[in-house]
Amino acid sequence: MSESLAEQVKQCCADLYGGDWARFLLGDSLHPGGLDLTLHLAKALELDGSARLLDAACGTGASSVAVADRFGCRVVGLDYGTQQIEAALAAARKSESRDRVGFLRGDVERLPFADGAFDAALCECALSTFGDKPGAARELRRVLKRGGGLGFSDVTRSGPLPEELRGPLTYGLCLAEARPTVEYAELLEASGFRVLQIEDQRGRLIDILDDVKGKLIAADLLCGLGVLRLPEIDLAVARQALGTASGAIADGAIGYVAIVAVAG
Ligand SMILES: C[S@@+](CC[C@H](N)C(=O)[O-])C[C@H]1O[C@@H](n2cnc3c(N)ncnc32)[C@H](O)[C@@H]1O
Repeated sequence: MSESLAEQVKQCCADLYGGDWARFLLGDSLHPGGLDLTLHLAKALELDGSARLLDAACGTGASSVAVADRFGCRVVGLDYGTQQIEAALAAARKSESRDRVGFLRGDVERLPFADGAFDAALCECALSTFGDKPGAARELRRVLKRGGGLGFSDVTRSGPLPEELRGPLTYGLCLAEARPTVEYAELLEASGFRVLQIEDQRGRLIDILDDVKGKLIAADLLCGLGVLRLPEIDLAVARQALGTASGAIADGAIGYVAIVAVAG
């Protein structure tokens, strides 16, 4: 992928998840499993009040704030999207952890931090969207201290995507470039991590799709009543794509995985 196309894909993904639609459909936590899965991963990282955590591709900062609130650690969240960082800063201002959480715009493929600057890192539902996955994984390793934990989760895919799920949006939706679980694990190991734990979390994906389907039905109803106007979204096509995605999850072609690894 050329550098300019890679920048466009990043911006497209950032715009997609920074927009009102993503917030309407997914809420503040932009990954399957929401904060429940985030806190589950964070627990495995054994964070305490002295720990410094990087939330790589932090989205609107929901995970960063929740982890800082729960574990009392310091958190730095970084995301490519300007809107995400604005929303994250607003969320931090309202949180009890406001003095321990900071956010900045940046690229996970070129992290603006010194070697070994963090005790732990989170990377949730984002690696699949990165153009340079090995580069991003190496950067995550570089900024972690030796022995620092990584809590990772992402969409998995094996085999080609069904026709209805192909198209530009699938890049942003983590599907086009999603990898099989084994490839994520190999990528992390090749970047200097030791994988400790792999959990199949496809049930979380089923739950989020059911939730999104419900919201699309509500949106359709509100559009029919003239209360809502959504000119840029074809709700019938979106619902059909969700149906196809549900089938692909049932077949095992699409899934969701959580991995805990440690910097070697
Ligand atoms: C599916 S969202 C997940 C956000 C957050 N981790 C969460 O779970 O709520 C993916 C995020 O990755 C960000 N992103 C994509 N490529 C990036 C990159 N190269 N560097 C930093 N952020 C990136 C997008 O802007 C988007 O906010």
